[in-house]
Amino acid sequence: MCPPQEVNSRQVKISAIGTHVPERIVTNDELSLTLDTSDEWISSRSGIRERHIAAEDEAASDLGAVAARRALQAAGLGPEELDLIIVASLSPDTLFPPTASYLSGLIGANGTPAFDLSAACTGFIYALATGSAFVASGQADKVLVVGAEVVSRMIDWTDRETAVLFGDGAGAVLLEPAVEGEPAIIGFDLGNDPEGAGELCLPAGGSRMPASEETVAAHQHSIKMNGREVFKFATRIIVTSAEKVLERHGLDVEDVNLFVPHQANIRIIDAAARKLGISPDRVFSNLERYGNTSCASIPLCLDEAAAAGRINKGDLVLMVGFGAGLSWGSCLARVGDLKRV
Ligand code: ACO
Repeated sequence: MCPPQEVNSRQVKISAIGTHVPERIVTNDELSLTLDTSDEWISSRSGIRERHIAAEDEAASDLGAVAARRALQAAGLGPEELDLIIVASLSPDTLFPPTASYLSGLIGANGTPAFDLSAACTGFIYALATGSAFVASGQADKVLVVGAEVVSRMIDWTDRETAVLFGDGAGAVLLEPAVEGEPAIIGFDLGNDPEGAGELCLPAGGSRMPASEETVAAHQHSIKMNGREVFKFATRIIVTSAEKVLERHGLDVEDVNLFVPHQANIRIIDAAARKLGISPDRVFSNLERYGNTSCASIPLCLDEAAAAGRINKGDLVLMVGFGAGLSWGSCLARVGDLKRV
């Protein structure tokens, strides 16, 4: 770690990005072979057509490590140059040691502080806020923030209401101090509503409900979701959180060049964009090909948007995540030269 400087003295930029998705693609038609569902139902209700699913021997850290190496390569950095690694995931390799520990071993960052951050699908935005606070305060110069998920391991593959929605993938961004005048992160809005905790959860396997024969038999080790309630929450909270962060920084929705929401359902994205007054050409979505990859969804979008030329130097990007908690988080950032391989 570099020595502490003046607290909150520095601007922070997202300087590089890397992503990775597993090779295997599972289409809606393939799911329809084992579940009472159809491509028509899944695509019209969610916008999802296919998702990538990890191989049996791949865990979250394996996907995250590939994304991390790509971000480091893009930045021209060695793993030993990192000051901190934060991994956000709802599908960690193990409860402990943290996925960040496995990942740091895989990329060769021995000795670097590394920890996990648990905030379900909002985890990437929470991790971005945490990493950016380390850089802003001068406690770190180079922070790697990784969203890495093998959500497919947390799914009850006999439950058509959740099985069709999720996918696996990973994304990593590098945070560094910005020099005067460089595009930088502007601010965050983070929140959590504990009253909604029961609407979206993975009930067993923790200290509240340890693993037992009963929990396994009752499928309590997989995601349970009240889809309608989460839908209502998401369409409301994306709008209020986005408006709050814009207002706090004296910016208007018209100033936003690209809106990058968490990719859970195209109807949620469209409804939120409509309510915010963001035209479709300023909304980025790729969930058609990935499904909901939880903490990986926003970096997967950022990377594809940069590759497609949808982010130009200095553009104002509004990222909004939401998920179990029920939690939410917005990040408003000016993005400069986002290095990618
Ligand atoms: N195939 C066919 N039919 C299905 C399927 C399926 N895969 N899943 C549900 N259905 C049925 C239901 O059983 C129901 O049947 P019924 O009317 O006979 O009872 C019918 O379809 C309609 O169900 P609804 O729940 O009304 O469908 P809805 O239009 O609300 O869509 C969905 C469901 C896609 C889950 C939606 O509610 C949603 O996207 N919710 C939000 C999910 C979300 O954002 N999750 C975020 C997770 S973030 C994190 O932290 C993990």
